Amino acid sequence: MLYLVGLGLSSVEDITVSGLKAVKQCSRVYLEHYTSILMSASQAELEEFYGKSVTLADREMVESGCEEILRGANSEDVAFLVVGDPFGATTHTDLVLRAKQQNIPVKVFHNASVMNAIGACGLQLYNFGQTVSMVFFHETWRPDSWYDKILANRKIGLHTLVLLDIKVKEQSYENMARGRLIYEPPRYMSISQCCEQLLEVDEKKSIKAYTPDTPCVAVSRLGSPTEAFKAGTIQELANYDAGEPLHSLIILGSQCHELELEYLLDFCDDREKFKKDVAKDREYFKPEPVMIEEDPEEEEE
Ligand SMILES: C[S@@+](CC[C@H](N)C(=O)[O-])C[C@H]1O[C@@H](n2cnc3c(N)ncnc32)[C@H](O)[C@@H]1O
Repeated sequence: MLYLVGLGLSSVEDITVSGLKAVKQCSRVYLEHYTSILMSASQAELEEFYGKSVTLADREMVESGCEEILRGANSEDVAFLVVGDPFGATTHTDLVLRAKQQNIPVKVFHNASVMNAIGACGLQLYNFGQTVSMVFFHETWRPDSWYDKILANRKIGLHTLVLLDIKVKEQSYENMARGRLIYEPPRYMSISQCCEQLLEVDEKKSIKAYTPDTPCVAVSRLGSPTEAFKAGTIQELANYDAGEPLHSLIILGSQCHELELEYLLDFCDDREKFKKDVAKDREYFKPEPVMIEEDPEEEEE
């Protein structure tokens, strides 16, 4: 059996009871180690908690060589651990499909994900549109395909969850070109870097999905003891030090509900200014009023 086990968001103890039972009976345990990190637990702490050794599975192992993970899973139990939920933001459907092709039974243990825990900031999950990913800009590669998704969300008043790039095991271009298996130290995009990238792309666009004054919520270390929220405009959050990773950003929808706003006021430096910013933003994509044309013949009657 292949077990896909969600670990939750922060500590070793966030695994579910049933997930832990499954892990304990496995002969091999892999930890997916490229889309997220378990913020308050090291590999050694996980191994001690499970009483088993844990192999870190990088992108290469999961996407191109998942034979290693599935090896023998017909006759023994193998666990594939995913921080958050196995199907939250990152989908591991490819691994499941490959297991099915090999007649390996699969069981999933769900857990909390950034995709639902984000509701802790007071914004309603029903009011979110498409989630987008913000990748690190390079000198020659500054992708902005996320822009149209934010625009579409904002046009109909919905919030946008922006997930930020992380590079846990990355080779420099030079080392890659020379085939040297030397990896750079891990990098995690910060809220301020994300906001700077948003502002840079905004300057180039003629149709404005947002402005520097658009209200946002910075979400840091969700589900951990140091969880933090900060509400402010994109411009303000470009100067915000959110501390240790992990970070996410929410760009408010232009139709932010009164109750949502009330909750967010606890997270801003200047409540009155934030109220004004939200009020101004409500006008931003306001639908044109519907004009019902009068029928002249009807009038005559
Ligand atoms: C690709 S998603 C992986 C989601 C994970 N499988 C889950 O279900 O939560 C990883 C990104 O989500 C965001 N994220 C994940 N956990 C977070 C947390 N606890 N606090 C803030 N942001 C988080 C970060 O932007 C991070 O780079």
